[in-house]
Amino acid sequence: MSRRVLVTGGAGFIGSHVVDALLAEGAQTTVIDDLSSGDARRVSDGADFCQVDIVDRHAFDTVVDRVAPEAIFHLAAQSSVTVSVADPARDCAVNVQGTLNVLEAADRHRAPVVFTSTGGALYGNDAPIPTSEDRIPAPLAPYGASKWAGEAYIKTWSAASGVPHAVCRLGNVYGPRQSPHGEAGVVSIFTHHLYTGRSPKVFGLGKPTRDYVHVADVVSALRAASGTAGTFNVATGVETDVMTVWSTLAKVSGARVEPELAPLRVGELERSCMDPSRARRELGWEAQISLERGLRETYQALIDEFTRDE
Ligand SMILES: NC(=O)c1ccc[n+]([C@@H]2O[C@H](COP(=O)([O-])OP(=O)(O)OC[C@H]3O[C@@H](n4cnc5c(N)ncnc54)[C@H](O)[C@@H]3O)[C@@H](O)[C@H]2O)c1
Repeated sequence: MSRRVLVTGGAGFIGSHVVDALLAEGAQTTVIDDLSSGDARRVSDGADFCQVDIVDRHAFDTVVDRVAPEAIFHLAAQSSVTVSVADPARDCAVNVQGTLNVLEAADRHRAPVVFTSTGGALYGNDAPIPTSEDRIPAPLAPYGASKWAGEAYIKTWSAASGVPHAVCRLGNVYGPRQSPHGEAGVVSIFTHHLYTGRSPKVFGLGKPTRDYVHVADVVSALRAASGTAGTFNVATGVETDVMTVWSTLAKVSGARVEPELAPLRVGELERSCMDPSRARRELGWEAQISLERGLRETYQALIDEFTRDE
């Protein structure tokens, strides 16, 4: 018998890759997504897709109790920092109340949950680089605060229910299917500019650093964390400035487009890089895809997507 797995946010960028990995393993996979930022076309045919808001407890419970999942990957989130500033109540409803709804449903089915939290939006500007999980969070925006609160519920429920739930704090995830129209996702945004021959704005004069991790590596980390209790950085430990990302993609494309340098936006971090050694030690997980290889492959995959969607 194949196992029954639920993926919230499975029509999103990362969630859709989780779904594909589960289908490849032979799991009976159900997706819950309200399509607020997701796209149903990302959900592979083999998965059962339900358009439901995780905040709508009755509708959510109805699906979960029908599926009776043996494991849950909880990726549905209000994940825009800008939206969290404009509408912190909605951000809180989705990321905190929604996470609580997931935990209560998981409890009924004794299903372990993997929760995708954030490294970049949690650790703040003064954290040592690379940052370990032990660093006390200092979020700069409501999005970081709501993810931190979600983490607290995950840990509390894990301890109280005896069902192991895991928190994965993701670095800057990039890869195929990432939208170029969001506020983040610089790899997709830059690739789209190269595709259309337009100059992108490179904020912080190209100097801000991030920990870029390929979506395939993230998927393997989330699967490794399922059924364990703990908090894990899912990142590479390699700090890369944004200008390096731009120049690598520009080189791969062969296009001659000059970026427009702009100052750092309010609330943006200057540096972010996470220590992944706990995940290596406790989950046996390590990122396998170098940035150079990941950018080359992602560039080609995104160009194919843009061409197809035209
Ligand atoms: N992309 C990154 O670099 C990154 C970094 C750190 C953490 N994360 C976290 O990883 C997860 C997935 O991120 P992503 O980049 O794939 O984002 P995404 O926006 O592509 O995916 C989120 C999905 O959740 C769905 N969703 C939102 N609100 C919902 C609701 N109320 N009910 C049901 N579905 C809802 C959206 O429609 C979307 O399909 C999120 O929890 C995000 O906070 C992402």
